[in-house]
Amino acid sequence: MDVILTGDRPTGRLHLGHYAGSLKRRVEMQNSGKYKVYVMIADAQALTDNAGNITKVRDNISEVALDYLACGLEPEKSTFLIQSQIPELCELSFYYMNLVTVSRLQRNPTVKNEIQLRGFKQSIPVGFFTYPISQAADITAFKANLVPVGEDQLPMIEQTREIVRSFNGQYRKILVEPMAVLPENHQCARLPGLDGAAKMSKSLGNCIYLADTANEIKKKVQSMFTDQTHLRIEDPGHTENNPVFIYLDAFCKDEHFAAFLPAYQNLEELKAHYRRGGLGDGTVKKFLNEILQNELKPIRERREEFAKDLGEVFAMLEKGSIKARAVAEQTLQEVKTAMGINYFNGNSLLKSV
Ligand code: TRP
Repeated sequence: MDVILTGDRPTGRLHLGHYAGSLKRRVEMQNSGKYKVYVMIADAQALTDNAGNITKVRDNISEVALDYLACGLEPEKSTFLIQSQIPELCELSFYYMNLVTVSRLQRNPTVKNEIQLRGFKQSIPVGFFTYPISQAADITAFKANLVPVGEDQLPMIEQTREIVRSFNGQYRKILVEPMAVLPENHQCARLPGLDGAAKMSKSLGNCIYLADTANEIKKKVQSMFTDQTHLRIEDPGHTENNPVFIYLDAFCKDEHFAAFLPAYQNLEELKAHYRRGGLGDGTVKKFLNEILQNELKPIRERREEFAKDLGEVFAMLEKGSIKARAVAEQTLQEVKTAMGINYFNGNSLLKSV
């Protein structure tokens, strides 16, 4: 059976970018019943750049768990786990570190970009710099072969594949080389921010959160950047690189027109009108707002329901972490045996590797 593992750092509530890029796909895969699914709250990874901010990470564990439940991930069908509660992951990382060079880590484009965004300059925490290795431990510990992620995570999957090939080649073939599963809809793979910035990100303050109220969503959609050259309604407009249209590409279906904007049949007709001129941003935003409200309302309502009993949510996280730990422990034993360092297992120190 295919095994899926994905995770999120608990540094804030999850937003529409997470939803489009990965959460939606995870729920579909979970519900297909064809996969074994692990969902990790990557608190240890979050700590790699939040050592001085542990309360933030701690407090957001329940927020992320609520976002998962709200989107339709279910503990009966998927195993939820908290990364720091699986110490075997650290042990795996430690051995994998010997299979990766410093220059290889320095080339990781996502980490490079994050280092710049965080302004680390010469003060990069070692843990942060090496988190792609720990992420390889996350993925391989569960022998996941599929990892549903947004585009920015592709370098981590590539790094994991290299570690797996190196390990399997040097020791014994026990690790599984994973594949990224990107959203089928290209626009979902990297949803821009409300301000048109390349990524929706909490630190840039350009997000719609899954927990946002109807009113917050409406205000945020109204404030979105559009085509800066489209000054008057009559002016011809650009739909490419226009965040409002990118969101429509990601979320709009033909039936939304019948429900909310019956003057058009489909997105192509709407775009053609915008390009020709004569279609105001207000109309397009109103339509986008209807679509997002429709998508996010059931999520928000489920979230509110689960938030009433956090004790239940924590019990579920604990149960999942215990179950997951047993799996990681098994892999770690196989890894140590393959490396010939399981010395006390059957007197292995007395035998040659
Ligand atoms: N790096 C991911 C992020 O920033 C979080 C993550 C940690 C992850 N471990 C993982 C994603 C394993 C996929 C698989 O969102």
